[in-house]
Amino acid sequence: MFTVALVSTLMAGLTAASPLSLSQRQFQGNYPPRATADAFTLVANISIPSTIFNPDVNNWFLSGVHVGAGRNAAILQPTLDRASVFFINGTGRDVSAQATSIALPPIKSQSGATPAGLQFIPYENPHNLVNLGLNFGPGSVGAGVVGGLRSPWAQAFTPYRYFIVCNETEPAYGRPQHAVKLAPDAESIPENCVAVTFLAQCATLPEGVFEGTEELNIHQVGAPCYEDVGAIDWSQHD
Ligand SMILES: *[C@@H]1O[C@H](CO)[C@@H](O)[C@H](O)[C@H]1NC(C)=O
Ligand SMILES: *[C@@H]1O[C@H](CO)[C@@H](O)[C@H](O)[C@H]1NC(C)=O
Ligand SMILES: *[C@@H]1O[C@H](CO)[C@@H](O)[C@H](O)[C@H]1NC(C)=O
Repeated sequence: MFTVALVSTLMAGLTAASPLSLSQRQFQGNYPPRATADAFTLVANISIPSTIFNPDVNNWFLSGVHVGAGRNAAILQPTLDRASVFFINGTGRDVSAQATSIALPPIKSQSGATPAGLQFIPYENPHNLVNLGLNFGPGSVGAGVVGGLRSPWAQAFTPYRYFIVCNETEPAYGRPQHAVKLAPDAESIPENCVAVTFLAQCATLPEGVFEGTEELNIHQVGAPCYEDVGAIDWSQHD
């Protein structure tokens, strides 16, 4: 936790002190090559080795587990074929204002199209944690994939500082899961959870996914992403 806190303090300091030198630093750095795609999966990158998971969950994918009508709690699972495919919704202005959302393909039925997306659900708990849902309804505004001048990494952001993944031994969802939540600061990360970064891995949306969904006013924008997050050799990039 100390290292995580220290790194973010340094980052915050850099951003506040000199945005120009930060962007110069980025373009001079040795970063893995990024592409741009219409859609992406989110891959967990654990910077600090942790002992709370066996097997390790590094490079696992964000997905949802059904917890109620139109509601899916965010979890990690190991295989690409079960990874959720997301896209960024918002106008160019929304991108500049970090007011986009991380959306899921709309669900179509005879009665019309229902939006779906990543939603933040604050709840009463001693740590001020926020649940993450892959739910029916528009995704929460204020989430996206960091790009451009703000970060050299194609990584997911929300209004909360940390994504965390928790070893929940309680069978909260029918059986134990690797639950993914949000934490406002390092102090609020519980013992059974670790901070995790989500990197975007390029994906494709199903053909015709937005046909007949005009009423939802979807503005799909391209997202920075990596071809294969699991193949990145971090020893070349730190
Ligand atoms: C990803 O994790 C590796 C360790 O497995 C770490 O060296 C690297 O800094 C992490 N990258 C990001 C962008 O978090
Ligand atoms: C969660 O922690 C318990 C107790 O330390 C351990 O037995 C279990 O294997 C862990 N679960 C996972 C999925 O790693
Ligand atoms: C997509 O973004 C546009 C522009 O901000 C917004 O009007 C619309 O409600 C959003 N749609 C969904 C499904 O999130």
